[in-house]
Order: sequence, then structure tokens, then C-alpha cells
Amino acid sequence: MTMKTKYPIGILGATGMVGQRYIQLLENHPWFEIVWLAASDRSSGKTYGEAAKWRLDTPLPDRIAHMTVSEADPRGAPKIIFASVDAAIAREMEPKFAEAGCAVLSNSSAFRMTPNVPLVIPEINADHLHLIEEQPWRKQSGGYMVTNPNCSTIGLVMALKPIEERFGLEQIFVTTMQAVSGAGYPGVASMDILGNVVPFIGSEEEKMEAETLKLLGKLEGHAVTPLAARITAHCNRVAVEDGHTECVSIKTVKPATREEILAAWAEYKPLAGRDLPFAPEQPVQFAPQNDRPQPRLDRNRGRGMAVTVGRLRPCGLLDWKFVALSHNTVRGAAGATILNAELLASQGKLDR
Ligand SMILES: NC(=O)c1ccc[n+]([C@@H]2O[C@H](COP(=O)([O-])OP(=O)(O)OC[C@H]3O[C@@H](n4cnc5c(N)ncnc54)[C@H](OP(=O)(O)O)[C@@H]3O)[C@@H](O)[C@H]2O)c1
Repeated sequence: MTMKTKYPIGILGATGMVGQRYIQLLENHPWFEIVWLAASDRSSGKTYGEAAKWRLDTPLPDRIAHMTVSEADPRGAPKIIFASVDAAIAREMEPKFAEAGCAVLSNSSAFRMTPNVPLVIPEINADHLHLIEEQPWRKQSGGYMVTNPNCSTIGLVMALKPIEERFGLEQIFVTTMQAVSGAGYPGVASMDILGNVVPFIGSEEEKMEAETLKLLGKLEGHAVTPLAARITAHCNRVAVEDGHTECVSIKTVKPATREEILAAWAEYKPLAGRDLPFAPEQPVQFAPQNDRPQPRLDRNRGRGMAVTVGRLRPCGLLDWKFVALSHNTVRGAAGATILNAELLASQGKLDR
């Protein structure tokens, strides 16, 4: 798809960890241009350069540094909003933007499990986007809300979907080792995490379990019927900067050989030929080495948008076990929203 003019987009929560990733990833994006940045009262009125503590390893673009941070109010905002604020704030704020006619693409957990709000990964369940037609704002103002999953859920579901599609899934057991950037900035205190593992991330296990089944579920009529599988998640915070690692065991419905699972991953390319700029060519990449994937070595595969799997071997408890790794603020957050926006744009759903 070629664009005559770019879609003007706004970022709500622009100064945070995910907000900064949007800015980094959208620099030179062929379809989207940032025209509006908003954050809390602490930041509004300041230039972005003054308000944000830039934490990324590429320079803050000059144009963005000089933009003034706006109040988080739909008046004056563009009609496409990439939102990355805390769930409690999102719950109150995001509906106001949808009501004002905005397409709200949200990273927060506030509405992910709401029946008429699509929870979408383009490679997994693009058809669930149809749920926006069930939202009252869509009829009243044209506005709507689309969510992307929690950062730990995305890596898991991308690795599971190719297997689920061919063999079905009965049971899923996952243990995560999640990077500190997943907690935002400043996040976990250094005294709590250095040389340590914290075996608790508030609500993370519940989110991972529920979101996985919704994403792998079927759109039936006006809602999604979740996948009828049993799932349990153990979530841990570890002293890694970026990249969530997940140890996964699964029981399939039909038996699958190692070669068949490898083929399912290798051949899974549902967005091939769609020309979405952020879609990785190979969404699930298998690392054959016996000590991979590792966050430092594998998180940037597919420009941070691919999920790396490895160590596929028989499981003594269920059928198969493997390790999955994904970049939590790229594939697991800002990149996920951008890819959702590209999918919506390719369907004409961002034209206002
Ligand atoms: N980090 C990840 O890997 C990740 C992955 C997936 C999803 N998420 C989700 O994305 C959201 C943002 O996460 P984050 O890691 O970017 O958090 P963060 O670093 O703490 O950033 C929070 C952002 O929200 C803004 N904010 C705070 N109060 C506000 C208010 N009352 N009105 C408007 N803006 C307000 C902050 O602005 P100020 O700078 O002005 O305070 C900041 O821009 C959360 O819901 C999180 O669960 C995060």
C-alpha cells in the first residue's frame, strides 16, 4: 500500500517506556506521523525533551524533542490514538477518546477482556477486529477501541498458534522470566532486582491465562468463545533489561512429532503478501542451538517483531516443551500496536 499523505497519530502516555518506543519505532514510518503527544499533568505544557527521561539507545528525534506535551484530552487530539497509560487511567480516559470519534489502539489491560473489544495480534486473530462494529462509539461517532495483549502473552501465543492450528491444544504450562522494562520506568527498584528474582508480578498470571484463551478463541456471533484448553502461568521478574523468556510445556489434542512442530512454526506466515511495514517476514523463528533463545542475543530478530523459539524436546509431564522469547516493549507493546494500526489502515478502518 502506498500513502499519499501519512495518517496523523497521537500518543497518550508518550513519556513512558512504551510511549518512548512508539516514538523510536515511528521515526520514518511510511504510513504514520506523530502530531500529538500527551501525558500526565506533570508533563503537559513542557516540551517533550524536558518532560521525558529518554531511556532508549537511539537519539530522541529533534522534531519530537521540541513538540509540546498536550493535556490528555480528546479536544485538539488527532483521530488515531496509540495509548500506553496505566490500566486505572486507561479505564477512565480511553472511552472518552473513543466517544470523541478516535480510533484508540491501547496497550493497557483495562478493556482487553471486555467482550466487544477486540484483543488482537494480526498474525493470530485478525478476524476478531470485527468486534469494533459491536461498540456503541462506532455507531455514534465512528470511534472505537482495539487492544493488544500483555507483553508476556504475545510471545506465548505467537509460539502456540501454529501448533494449535494443526494439532489443537489441551494444556499449557508456562513459566516466565520477564525483563524489568516490562514494569515501566522507573519500575522495580534496583535494590530489589539486582542479583535477584522476584516471583510475583501483580495480576500478570491471571492476564496471561485469560488473554491467551481469548486470542486463541473463535469469533462466534457477537463475541469470542475462548479456546477450551487448560492453562497455568508462573510469572517472575528477572534482572534483564529487555526481552521476556518463557519456558512452555504443552499437551496437544492430536499427536505431533518434533518435525511437524518445527514445520508448523516455519510455515506460519499468515501476513505474507499483505505489505504491512512492521510485519516480520518470519514471525516465529526457531533457534537450533541448545542454549538459545537468549534475551540479549535474540530479542531483536525481525526488528524486534519476531518471536524466537528453541529447545524443543519431549516433556515428561505433558507432550512437548520449549523456550520462547520476545522483545517486550517492541513485539510485546509499541510494535504490537503499530502492527494493529497497519492492519486497520490496510482495511480502510483508519480513514475518518
Ligand atoms: N512496558 C512494557 O513492556 C509494557 C508492555 C505491554 C503493555 N504495557 C502497558 O502499557 C501501559 C504503559 O506502560 P509503560 O511501561 O509505558 O508505563 P510508564 O513508563 O510508567 O509510563 C506511563 C505513562 O503514562 C503517563 N501518565 C501517567 N498518569 C497519567 C494521567 N493521569 N494522564 C495521562 N497520562 C498519564 C505518564 O506520563 P508522565 O511522564 O507525565 O507521568 C507516562 O507517559 C501500561 O498499561 C502497561 O501495563 C507495558
